[in-house]
Amino acid sequence: MRVSAGLVGGVAILLGCSGGAYAADDPLAPTGRWTAVTTGQAAKPPMGWNSWNAFHTDVTEAKVLDSAKAIVDSGLAAKGYRYINIDDGWWLKRRTSDGRMVVRTSIFPSAAVGGAEQTSFKPFTDRIHAMGLKAGIYSDIGANNCSQAFAPNAPNLPEGTVAEREVGLYGHTDQDIKLYFGDWAFDYIKVDACGIRAFGPDNERVKAGQYRALAPLIDIKEIRRTDIPAVRALYQQVADALRRTNPDGDYIFSICAWGSADVRAWAKDVGNLSRTSDDITPSWTRMLANFDSANRALYAHPGSWNDPDMLFVGHGDFDEHHLTEAKSHFALWAMLSAPLLIGYDLRNAPQPLMDILGNSDLIAVDQDPAGNQAVLAYDTDDVQILVKTLSNGHKAVAIFNRGLAPTDVTLTAGHLKFAATAPVTLKDLWTGATLPAFSGETKLHLDPRQTLVFDAAGARALPNGLYLAEMPGRVNPAVDGVVIPQPDPTIHRMITPWGGTTDDGEPPAYTGWGGAQADATPYRQTLRVDGKTYGTGLGVLANSRLEVRADRQFRRFTAEVGVDDSTFDADDAVTFSVYGDGKLLTTSKPTRFGQTAQTLSANISGVKTVELVARGASAKNKAPTVVTWGNAALLTD
Ligand code: GAL
Repeated sequence: MRVSAGLVGGVAILLGCSGGAYAADDPLAPTGRWTAVTTGQAAKPPMGWNSWNAFHTDVTEAKVLDSAKAIVDSGLAAKGYRYINIDDGWWLKRRTSDGRMVVRTSIFPSAAVGGAEQTSFKPFTDRIHAMGLKAGIYSDIGANNCSQAFAPNAPNLPEGTVAEREVGLYGHTDQDIKLYFGDWAFDYIKVDACGIRAFGPDNERVKAGQYRALAPLIDIKEIRRTDIPAVRALYQQVADALRRTNPDGDYIFSICAWGSADVRAWAKDVGNLSRTSDDITPSWTRMLANFDSANRALYAHPGSWNDPDMLFVGHGDFDEHHLTEAKSHFALWAMLSAPLLIGYDLRNAPQPLMDILGNSDLIAVDQDPAGNQAVLAYDTDDVQILVKTLSNGHKAVAIFNRGLAPTDVTLTAGHLKFAATAPVTLKDLWTGATLPAFSGETKLHLDPRQTLVFDAAGARALPNGLYLAEMPGRVNPAVDGVVIPQPDPTIHRMITPWGGTTDDGEPPAYTGWGGAQADATPYRQTLRVDGKTYGTGLGVLANSRLEVRADRQFRRFTAEVGVDDSTFDADDAVTFSVYGDGKLLTTSKPTRFGQTAQTLSANISGVKTVELVARGASAKNKAPTVVTWGNAALLTD
C-alpha cells in the first residue's frame, strides 16, 4: 500500500488552514458572503454531449467529431448544447520518464503530433473550438480508473507497466490539469472516483499484481467507512489547480463521486456539478432512482448543480419506441436544473428523439437564469408535482405519473403559490398549446409514465416578495446541521448490473437524509410548529447556517420560527438569528418543542447576503433537532 488514508487526511488539514474554508472555529458564525462555488462557467447547468452512454470505452475521434457535427448541423448547438465531452477510454498510458499522459492515437489519430509518445489533444480541441463548441476531458481522482476497476474486458484499457497504467490524477493533479487545460485547451473536466474506491489491497487484480493498492477512501456502501475529509481534499486540489491554470475562469469542474463521501454537504463548495447517485442505465426504475437522488433543491445554485447523471434519451426504455418515457426523462431533468448532456449516437438519431432533445421551451426551463431547481409541491407513490420558479415570475410545473395506470390529477393554484381567486394560464411545453384559464384548480389527465409540463402564469399568492422555498437557487445551506450522514431511505435500492440477485444490491449512496429542504422538513414531513402547519418554509436541522442571496433587491425578511413537531430531540432549546451582511439583525428567544412559533422580521434594505442561523443548546445534535423557518420570505416593502 503506497499511501495511507492518514497521509491524505493530513492534506485535508493543510488545505483547510490555507483555504480558510474550514478555519472558522464556529461554523455558525456569519461570514457575510455567499460561499458556494461561483467560479467556472456554470452560471447555468452545462449542456452538451458525452461519449459514455453512447459508446462506453469504444470511443473514437471520428465518433466524437461526427456527434459534434450533428450537434451543429441539427441546430442543437444553437440551442445551447456546446460541451463535447470525451469520457473513459481515451488514454494509452502515463509516460514514466516524466509523468506526461499519452493519448491512444489509434482511436484519436490527430493526437499523434510527434510519434506515438509525444501526443497532444490540441488538434482535436482546435477542431471542436473551430465548430464553435467547447471540449471536455475525463479523469479519475485516484491513480487508476473506472473501466480498469469494473470493465476488465472493455476495449481501450490503459496499457503498459503497472506504473504506466496509472492514468488518474492521483499524485499528478497539477501536471495533468496544466496539460489538459493549459496545453491541450480543454474547457471541461469530469473527475471520477473509482481509483479511490476499488483498488484496496483485497482487490483480486491488486493481489495479482496488476494494479498497485491504494487504501480506499470511499466505501460506496458504508458512509462510516468513507474518509470524507480526505475525499474532499483531493477534489479541492483539482479545484485549486483548475483555478490556477485557467485565470480566465473558462472551465467547468464536474465531480463524479456518485453521491458518496457526503458530497451533498461539500461538493457545492468545490465543483460546478456533482453526481447524486450511481450510474443511470436506460431503464425506467433506474432513471427514477437517479431522479429521486437529486430531490435536493437547496443544494443547487447558479455555479453548482445537482447532477443526476447524463441523459439516456435514445436508449432502452427511452428509445424512439418509448417516447412518453423519453419525454418524461428529459422534462424531469429540465425541472431539476440538471446538466443536459446527451448520451446518444447522434449520427443517425430518429427525428422524434431530436425533437425531444431540442425542445426549446424545456431547454429554457432548465437554463432559466434564476437557477431555481424544482421543489416538490405534491408527492405520492405514483404522482408527483414539481414546481420551478422562473426568473420572469412564471412557474414551470411538471405533473409526473411514475406508475403504469392512467390517472386524473387535480392541480391547484396553491401548488403554484398562486392566488386561488385569480386566473391561471397553462402553456403546454410539449405541444405549445395554451389551455383555457382556470382559477382555484383544474383537472388533468395523465397517461402511464407521462409527464405534463407547463409554463404557468398567475397572480402570486405573496404579491410583495418571494418565499425562500420559491428561490432555492438563492439559498445555500452553508452548514446544514447534519452530524451523522445517512443515506436517503426514500431512494430505491438497485440491483448491481454485475451481481444480479447474487449480490446484496446497491443501497443509495447519497447521504442526503436530514439535509435542508424547501417546503418540507429534512425528513420530508410537512412543516409544523406546535400543531400549526406551514404550507411553505425551509426545513433544516438545528446548528445550521443558511446563506441567502438578497442582492440588495428586498427590504424585509420575515418568518415564523420554531422547533418542528417532527423533531427527534424534544428537549433542545433553539435560538434563531438573522444576519445581514454579517451583522445581527434580529434574534428569537430560545424556543423548544411544543412552543408556539415566534415571528421574526428584519429590515434588509441594502443587504446583499442574509444569513439564517438556528443554534441549538445541544451542539451535538445526536438526536437531531428539527427546526422550521415557516413562511420564510424576502419582501419588497
Ligand atoms: C463511472 C461514471 C460514469 C462513467 C464511467 C466510465 O464511474 O459514473 O459516468 O464515466 O465511470 O468508466
